[in-house]
Amino acid sequence: MRELLLVGAGGLAREALAVVRRLDRHDEVSVLDDDPRTWGRRIGAGAGAGMGAVVVGGIEEVVDRPDADLVICIGSGTGRRRVADRLADLGVTDDRYATILHPSVDVPPGCTVGPGSILLAQVVLTADVLVRRHVVLMPHVTLTHDCRVGDLATLCAGVTLGGSVLVGDGAYLGMGATVRERLVVGAGATVGMGAVVLGDVPAGEVWAGVPARRLEVPTLTGAHR
Ligand SMILES: CC(C)(COP(=O)(O)OP(=O)(O)OC[C@H]1O[C@@H](n2cnc3c(N)ncnc32)[C@H](O)[C@@H]1OP(=O)(O)O)[C@@H](O)C(=O)NCCC(=O)NCCS
Repeated sequence: MRELLLVGAGGLAREALAVVRRLDRHDEVSVLDDDPRTWGRRIGAGAGAGMGAVVVGGIEEVVDRPDADLVICIGSGTGRRRVADRLADLGVTDDRYATILHPSVDVPPGCTVGPGSILLAQVVLTADVLVRRHVVLMPHVTLTHDCRVGDLATLCAGVTLGGSVLVGDGAYLGMGATVRERLVVGAGATVGMGAVVLGDVPAGEVWAGVPARRLEVPTLTGAHR
C-alpha cells in the first residue's frame, strides 16, 4: 500500500487532493496540519459524505509513517520553506517528496519538474523548461522554452513567461502576470496580478501594473508571502 501525506489543510491541499484522486497512484491519502482544531476533520470534495481525506495529526506524524510520500500544500512560498526546513530536521529527504501533475499536464522530454512541485490543470511546459523543488504552478500557467523556475516559487493562475525567463527562488507571480522573454524575476520578488513585466525585477521587490513598476509597499502580509 502506498500512502501520500498532504502537509497543510488549506485550499491548496484541497486542489492537490482533487488531482491526486484522479491519478490513482496512492491507495491512501491523509493530511497533516499543526492546528489541533483540524485533527480528525475531513477535507476535499465529498468530505461531508465521508470522502475526501482526513487530517490525521501534526507534522511530526511523518516520523511514524516513514514509507509515505509527501507533498507540502501551503500556498505561500515562505510557508512552504518553513515546513520544508522542519521536515528536513525530522529526517525527510528529497526522495520522499511526490510531484503532483494534473492529468492534463504534459512534461515533454527535455523538461524537468522537481520533487514536491504541484502543477494544476492546463499548465503548459513547451521545451527545455526547468521547474525546481516545491514550486506551485496554478491552472493555465504557460512556461515557454528554456524558462527556469526556482525552488518554492509560486505562479498563480494564468501567468505566462516568454522564452528563457528566470524566476528566482521563492518568487511570487500574481494571477495573469506576463513576463517578456529573457528577463529575470529575482528571488523573493512579488509581481502583482495582471502585471506586464518589461524589465528585470530585482530580488525581494514588489512590481505591478502595465508596464510593471516598483510598488512601494512597506510590509507584505498577504498569502503571497
Ligand atoms: C501586488 C500585490 C501583492 C500588492 O498587495 P498589497 O501589498 O496588499 O498592496 P495594496 O493592495 O495595499 O496596494 C498598494 C498599491 O498598489 C496598487 N496595486 C495593488 N495591486 C496592484 C496590481 N496588481 N496592479 C496594479 N496596481 C496594484 C494599489 O492600487 C495601491 O495603489 P495606491 O497606493 O495608489 O492606492 C497584490 O495586489 C497582488 O497583485 N497580489 C496577487 C493576488 C493574486 O494573484 N492572488 C491569487 C491567489 S490564488
